[in-house]
Amino acid sequence: AGNWKMNLDHLQATHLVQKLDWSLRDGKHDHGAVEVAVLPPFTDIRSVQTLIDGDRLPLKYGAQDLSVHDSGAYTGEISGAFLAKLGCTYVAVGHSERREYHNETDAVVNAKIKAAYTHGLTPIFCCGEGLEIRQAGEQVAHVLGQIEAGLDGLPAEQAASIVIAYEPIWAIGTGRTATPQQANDICGGVVRQTVRELYGEAVADATRILYGGSANDKNIRELMEQPDIDGALIGGAALKVESYGEMVRVT
Ligand code: 13P
Repeated sequence: AGNWKMNLDHLQATHLVQKLDWSLRDGKHDHGAVEVAVLPPFTDIRSVQTLIDGDRLPLKYGAQDLSVHDSGAYTGEISGAFLAKLGCTYVAVGHSERREYHNETDAVVNAKIKAAYTHGLTPIFCCGEGLEIRQAGEQVAHVLGQIEAGLDGLPAEQAASIVIAYEPIWAIGTGRTATPQQANDICGGVVRQTVRELYGEAVADATRILYGGSANDKNIRELMEQPDIDGALIGGAALKVESYGEMVRVT
């Protein structure tokens, strides 16, 4: 999934999605094997929907955030109901940039995950530790806490369909990727293991776990070779069709 963050207006979005589709067609990409999704800014979604539906492109799309509320006096907020109406499949929840700049707590993240399911959206639930936590060697406890809090009260069928993205904050937009081993240790040893302890083996097998943080067309292969990494959540490299298309092909 490509998280565009606050980049590209609706015209640029249409161009990028069109080019992405051409690039994947050229590479004979099998969308049944590897799903490709884009998460544009809210104001782009209607245009992306129109293109994808109109041309029947085999791409999924979603939003980068949603409100915990369904509707009402919440100026500037976007309801999951509206995203569902726009045909969104996914919505990112608890991205580290939302946690940092908008003070989203684990409790808010949990409420947003539930709001997503209320409206039939699949959350891409983001977790990950900052540099200080990593340097103190406390990443396992930190991510474990985020996962337990985020999944609190979620039924097994939702835990099976959720997508969880491990994005170490020190690797986001820094060009400093986690090593494949570091990424897999958390994706498998913490994220999948916690899902396993909470819901059992079958659910843990079904949960899709992504790595995010300076993933690019050079390092993606090694990351995707890891047994507990099922895909990637891509920021900067998702804005360049050549890189993103290549990453999809490798995945
Ligand atoms: P970069 O790929 O730009 O490091 O961003 C990762 C990310 O935050 C995706 O959600």
